Amino acid sequence: MPATNGARNATAMPDTGEMVVVHRLFTQEYTASVGLVRGVAAGNTARSAVVADHLAALGAMLTEHHLAEDELVWPRLVADPAVEPALVARMEEQHERIADALGRLEQALPGWRESADPVLRDTVAEACAELLPALDAHLGDEEEHILPLVPGRFTATEWAVLSERGRAAVPGPHRLYMLAALGEAAGEDRHTEFLGRLPAPVRLLYRVAGPSLRRRTKARLHGTKAAKSAVTQASRPSRVVHDQSSVKPKP
Ligand SMILES: [Fe+2]
Repeated sequence: MPATNGARNATAMPDTGEMVVVHRLFTQEYTASVGLVRGVAAGNTARSAVVADHLAALGAMLTEHHLAEDELVWPRLVADPAVEPALVARMEEQHERIADALGRLEQALPGWRESADPVLRDTVAEACAELLPALDAHLGDEEEHILPLVPGRFTATEWAVLSERGRAAVPGPHRLYMLAALGEAAGEDRHTEFLGRLPAPVRLLYRVAGPSLRRRTKARLHGTKAAKSAVTQASRPSRVVHDQSSVKPKP
């Protein structure tokens, strides 16, 4: 994210569109994860490790996304007499349901990661599938009923803290993957605003190599042929890519 001018940011509108793209990323990746997990052969621990690490990264990002909302958003809304208390209570309940589903997933994940056991694989895949309806319902509800309440109740600077916490929650080895996944999640309708949020060097990288970065990082995750070129490419020194702190996406 480009450095922002503090005075300008104090009066700017909070960027709630960014959260919509982050929500799309969670839906996109958890939807894909069901088939991804089921595609790992029994005993293939190299693949189970790659996929389990991806799910662990997603889980850490989603947990922090919700923790930041629990700590920064709900208390502000609860204190506002113009906000229906039942709305916030519903959001909190939805977070709890998602946390329960994530807990079941995370319980099965280490064992499957180490063993690639097919029974554990099915448990992990089912946990991903069970997470999706709760996630879908919550994210849609939040976008429809919570995000419109943000302007006027949060400054741009206050709201940006959610993004900063989200960025910090992306594990280092997963930043390039998540950057490219976020670009896909932005879709055509939010592509321009997605690019506008990237720091200038990352924007340049993404303009030049965004689609191929997505293909390569996705191929590596899925264990398809292009994975080899992704690893080769990733291991090449790159001035832009080398600074991992500058390529954190913004969940
Ligand atoms: Fe959210």
